[in-house]
Amino acid sequence: MSETPSSDGPQRVVLVTGAAGGLGREFAIALAARGHRVAGLDLADLSGTADAIGDRFHPVRADVTDPDEVEAAVEETAARFGGLHIVVNNAGIYPPLEFEETTLEDWRRVMRVNLDGPFLVSRAALPHMKAAGWGRIVNIASAVVFLGPPDLVAYTTSKAGLVGFTRALASAVGSHGVTVNAIAPGLTRTGTAARTTGADGGFERVRDLQVVRAVEEPRDLLSTLLYVCDEGSGFLTGQTINVDGGSAMH
Ligand SMILES: NC(=O)c1ccc[n+]([C@@H]2O[C@H](COP(=O)([O-])OP(=O)(O)OC[C@H]3O[C@@H](n4cnc5c(N)ncnc54)[C@H](O)[C@@H]3O)[C@@H](O)[C@H]2O)c1
Repeated sequence: MSETPSSDGPQRVVLVTGAAGGLGREFAIALAARGHRVAGLDLADLSGTADAIGDRFHPVRADVTDPDEVEAAVEETAARFGGLHIVVNNAGIYPPLEFEETTLEDWRRVMRVNLDGPFLVSRAALPHMKAAGWGRIVNIASAVVFLGPPDLVAYTTSKAGLVGFTRALASAVGSHGVTVNAIAPGLTRTGTAARTTGADGGFERVRDLQVVRAVEEPRDLLSTLLYVCDEGSGFLTGQTINVDGGSAMH
């Protein structure tokens, strides 16, 4: 990316999980445009994100469910950019599953990616944030936590767990200048959402449940992400911010 960073604040080092595509790629691009240096972690090929950002981006191929790979990815990021200040726990899966046909392995896979992942990444990143006396952990939850759709029982359970994780971890790390918050998007137009939840007119059905009568796009989440990560947001912690066009209000 060639343009000048748009923020005068300090340049921070960011790790975005699931940055190869979808929301994670947009998050990585937006944070880099703020002047931050961004590592993107994914199982999938990160070259599209790397091409979009340029030399403020470092790709790391890793599985968020593997403790050794996560440790190595965090250390590689800190070594490449000199520290680590912001983690966006975005990697996640949301397979639609009939509840009574859900196998224990289906259930565990959703919990591994959506809960073990944020646990492992946050745990590995915290020593770097504590050393800096400043940090931001942002967990990408989901508005399903407030809505409870019938075909996403495992997913909803995992994201509700992430809301609890957000609150308790905020209490555990607040004295070190580290905030922990969650953003809960509504159904947002990404490739995966279009293939799964959005199939069969799902985007239109969800749009009609919203106060804001438009399909949510990744760009609709960026101002909230930047706000949570902002230098001035140190008093915002333990919160789940629901950005879903008003389909659920809490
Ligand atoms: N798109 C939506 O409608 C929506 C709504 C609410 C919440 N969310 C949440 O936002 C996040 C991103 O969703 P998306 O629609 O962009 O999905 P996506 O499938 O486009 O992106 C997820 C990324 O995570 C990566 N990933 C998956 N498992 C991984 C693992 N074990 N290790 C490392 N990387 C892994 C994938 O390769 C992919 O690049 C997810 O946590 C999802 O639950 C999405």
